[in-house]
Amino acid sequence: MTAEPYDTIDCDVLVVGAGGAGMRAAIAAAEAGCRVAVVTKSLLGKAHTVMAEGGIAAGLGNVDAEDGWEVHFADTMLGGQLLNNWRMVELFAREVIDRVLELERWGGLFDRTDDGLIMQRAFGAHSWKRLCHVGDRTGLELIRTCQDKLVHTQGADVYMEYTLTSLLKDGDTVAGAVGYNRNDGGFVVFRAGAVVLGSGGWGRMYRTTSNSWESTGDGAALAYAAGADLLDMEFVQFHPTGMIWPPGARGILVTEAVRGEGGYLYNSEGKRFMLEYDPAKKELSSRDVVARAIYKEVQAGRSTPHGGAYLDVRHLGAERIKQKLPSMFEQFHALASVDITRQPMEVGPTIHYTMGGVRVEAETGATTVPGLYAGGEAAGGLHGANRLGGNSLGDILVFGRRAGEAAAEFARGQGARRGIDERQVADEQASLLRPLDGSQDGATPGENPYKLHEELQAAMQDDAGIGRSEESLQRSLAAIGELGERSRRMRVSGGRALNPGWHTCRDVENMLTVSEAIVRSALERRESRGSQWRFDYTEQDVELGKVNFVARRDGDTMTVARVPLDPLPERLRPLLEKSRFYDPAKLPKGHLTPMGAAPKEGA
Ligand code: FUM
Repeated sequence: MTAEPYDTIDCDVLVVGAGGAGMRAAIAAAEAGCRVAVVTKSLLGKAHTVMAEGGIAAGLGNVDAEDGWEVHFADTMLGGQLLNNWRMVELFAREVIDRVLELERWGGLFDRTDDGLIMQRAFGAHSWKRLCHVGDRTGLELIRTCQDKLVHTQGADVYMEYTLTSLLKDGDTVAGAVGYNRNDGGFVVFRAGAVVLGSGGWGRMYRTTSNSWESTGDGAALAYAAGADLLDMEFVQFHPTGMIWPPGARGILVTEAVRGEGGYLYNSEGKRFMLEYDPAKKELSSRDVVARAIYKEVQAGRSTPHGGAYLDVRHLGAERIKQKLPSMFEQFHALASVDITRQPMEVGPTIHYTMGGVRVEAETGATTVPGLYAGGEAAGGLHGANRLGGNSLGDILVFGRRAGEAAAEFARGQGARRGIDERQVADEQASLLRPLDGSQDGATPGENPYKLHEELQAAMQDDAGIGRSEESLQRSLAAIGELGERSRRMRVSGGRALNPGWHTCRDVENMLTVSEAIVRSALERRESRGSQWRFDYTEQDVELGKVNFVARRDGDTMTVARVPLDPLPERLRPLLEKSRFYDPAKLPKGHLTPMGAAPKEGA
């Protein structure tokens, strides 16, 4: 088979994705002297990064002098239920401080203390006021700042509205990627010495999500197809507070900054229910706990009219609300005709973030495939079973930079760029063109990709959602299998130019791969831990606290294997005690259990 004509673009480092992680990786690789191509299927500046509104967690200690990287390390490990890659957490907690100051040097705006320092606010399960922020638009400011830096960095070119659909390999090593221009449908090959996935997470296989159309798990699917491991895929974060009304606004994020600034959650009986679910941290408990609490209140029949909880900031006063939460004020006004200075908000859990991702080496972001790197939400390991709010913006800065630097070094070490295998290109083109093939006989009608997407969302939301069981997960897995079969028959009308139906076909395939990894991993983790809540295994299991699960390809089959955690070194164990939330009797069950007091049943 010969390949159809395609454009070839040569670069040293190809960066997939132009959110915070992608841009930070690209800046690092270009500053290391590489020619960098940044590819986004969307537009530069439009990324899920902007949905991290409340701030960047960094132990600067500007507001609470007791804070520092050590406490940030402890909070992140405990929040992740000790399933985190401890080395990633250590690098993160230490380096995020410099990354925030660097962002400030690049022109990033922050709210200020009276002394002119970067202002920090409280957030869930952080021991101290730690989130550096500008109102409730911090992610947007990070994107704006990195974008400005990137376009002024020599050697980096941005390719907008291109979809990359397959990584090309030369032997075991990644040699680039193939895809198409979304506007004219023309094929393109990026020939690269190394590839960085900064492609973010995946929420679109769920019905209720804060993620916009881009978050279909393309990076994870590309990596999986190329032979990389997917780690911790069962851990999908429900942010406790998304809009639930009107229907068109369902899922849109209501920032945790609302609770960070002092907002209260009430049920329909006017009870501040978090005082019961977590008397110590209350509304600022970790996201898994608050999301489950709202779910339980709804199940108990104490929900608001549209099936959620009330989030109330009226006691803060209109001036403070408009100053610290301007986007929330505008969002509720514009989308729900609610004045949050006078009325409570109605909120409920929304899929926001994925803790799982491509398995990487802590220092470099190297995956198990030579030449392939990942950083930010596309990578797994940093957040364990549950991410603390505010830790994603720091993640993308710290590990985007590290992945970019390591990819640059790898690419330089390769010398000449690798060859492109025409057969791989031709095979991928044939697969991409299948849905446009109008020659299908009438006896087997084509499948509509939008319909398949809708059915996948039902299978994931209803059966692999905030609470799961063997029975529901098996149902979800069966649905994914059936949808996978049907996806081979997806057909769309029209041609390659500006055809959203055609684009959706590959999105659906990617979401099916990622959904299968989520469900298979959730089936294997027969316990409740962090964001994984099993109705049939409500306790933590000591043995499962010592392992991560890894999904990988074996021919056409997906396997899920246990991978032992690298135990926390002695030098870092004492740091856990620095967290205000450290309680030896309630340590997450697993590899640390023997050193502390025996955990109570159900702890
Ligand atoms: O609620 C928020 O502002 C989200 C922050 C985050 O996900 O880090």
